[in-house]
Amino acid sequence: MSKRVIIKDARLSSDKIIELKNINEQFFIMNGRRKTYHILTYGCQMNEHDSEKISGMLTSIGYEETDDDTNADLVIFNTCLIRENAELKVFGKLGEVKGLKRNNPNMLVAVCGCMMQKEEIREKVIKKFSFVDIIFGTNTIHELPGLIYNAEINKNKSIDIIENTELIYENMPKQRKFKYKALVNITYGCNNFCTYCVVPYVRGREKSREPEEIINEVKALAQDGCKEITLLGQNVNSYGSNLEKKFTFAELLYEINKIDGIERIRFMTSHPKDLTDDLIMAIKHCSKVCNHVHLPVQAGSNNILNKMNRKYTKEHYLDLVYKLKKEIPDVAITTDIIVGFPGETEEDFLETVDVVKNVQYDSAFTFLYSMREGTKAALMEDQIPDEVKHERFDRLLDVLYKIVLERNSQCIGHTYPVLVESTSKTSDNFLTGRTEHFRLVHFKGTEELLGQIVNVKITNVKTFHMEGEIV
Ligand code: SAH
Ligand code: SF4
Ligand code: F3S
Repeated sequence: MSKRVIIKDARLSSDKIIELKNINEQFFIMNGRRKTYHILTYGCQMNEHDSEKISGMLTSIGYEETDDDTNADLVIFNTCLIRENAELKVFGKLGEVKGLKRNNPNMLVAVCGCMMQKEEIREKVIKKFSFVDIIFGTNTIHELPGLIYNAEINKNKSIDIIENTELIYENMPKQRKFKYKALVNITYGCNNFCTYCVVPYVRGREKSREPEEIINEVKALAQDGCKEITLLGQNVNSYGSNLEKKFTFAELLYEINKIDGIERIRFMTSHPKDLTDDLIMAIKHCSKVCNHVHLPVQAGSNNILNKMNRKYTKEHYLDLVYKLKKEIPDVAITTDIIVGFPGETEEDFLETVDVVKNVQYDSAFTFLYSMREGTKAALMEDQIPDEVKHERFDRLLDVLYKIVLERNSQCIGHTYPVLVESTSKTSDNFLTGRTEHFRLVHFKGTEELLGQIVNVKITNVKTFHMEGEIV
């Protein structure tokens, strides 16, 4: 059941939005500058994309982005609680902002994102950080103008959260961070309830966008000059399961592959339990779909996979990897791994190491298991002591990094198309981009190449990036 928590009605009629725009325009005329906002984004690409929607909403009512969080007129925390350290970072930074707000009482502070979808955490923010003016959730981004109006004009603390909703909000304005690559939601929420994970509790049940909505969005992006899109969902492979008219993720890939102007299609994340043969063939046959599959394994032991509620076995996973490599010989496979899940024995851990050796991953995100309140795993016995977790984690990285470096070394002397994404942080004469296989490459070049796909010959490799030269 969906539950809405609103303190002071935030929803704005369109004349109020016009009034707010006018107020901001007046501010611009009086002060010679627009009101500024700064967003601190924590967490995954879902949140990154939500921040692009927040930027879009704010731009549409006359705000301008600033890099400087110390004197912005509005500071927004888009939060994550996937692991404890994500949560601690937000609380630490909120503490810092408290001082800023003391010096600049007109500054508005807003907290949104996944942490705000949890009542206990919301209550903690309301009590401990009483200077926070606005709280909204992952389902109420579109209400932001109303919340700002309420906080700024009516001087009310403004809170608007919908805990779960069947609704999908289309056509929100978006101000994307990059011109040449874009994130596109295809599903929201998650139905899988992996026992360690908070996402189903804070993002609600899985909902798929209508294929036409996605296709139209990608077409519009292509017309704007976008070359690469990443289709986003917690489990993109189950796309379409709640649509009235059956439409699978594989079918969606074939449709998007037809769109002129788009040159690369990526997707995140694939759940192994739903990776079908049809999908493998779609990746193989769609020329624009990158030969890169991010396939989180989480653990190698069947006992742990079962306790995690992942719904596949080590053997099934390895079989999928075998099929992928057979059908798409140059496929890059990356993964997520959790070390130290409750009850993990040394033997269980060695099964994870065995998977890593077997698959020969191109890269992997590795995490120490973090106990999350409200999840099933938090109640399990045999929580693993920190020292054991860390010791296993270090051993895993030793094995993993050797493999990743070895995989990168195989690229030396070869030439790959690279989408130029940005100039290097340290020098304007260096560019950064990615290969189809998601490898990060640094090379000499100047900014007029931004957004182009150039051929780069690899000359040197490290664990986390490669170096090369344009040929
Ligand atoms: N939907 C994606 C993952 C989203 S969360 C999927 O199923 O693959 C990203 C990653 O964070 C997960 O793959 C998992 O490896 C990690 N993660 C999630 N909850 C965690 C926890 N409680 N402790 C440690 N890592 C966790
Ligand atoms: Fe979390 Fe599992 Fe859903 Fe991924 S599939 S978001 S890990 S519950
Ligand atoms: Fe993503 Fe963190 Fe939310 S990983 S979905 S931002 S809890």
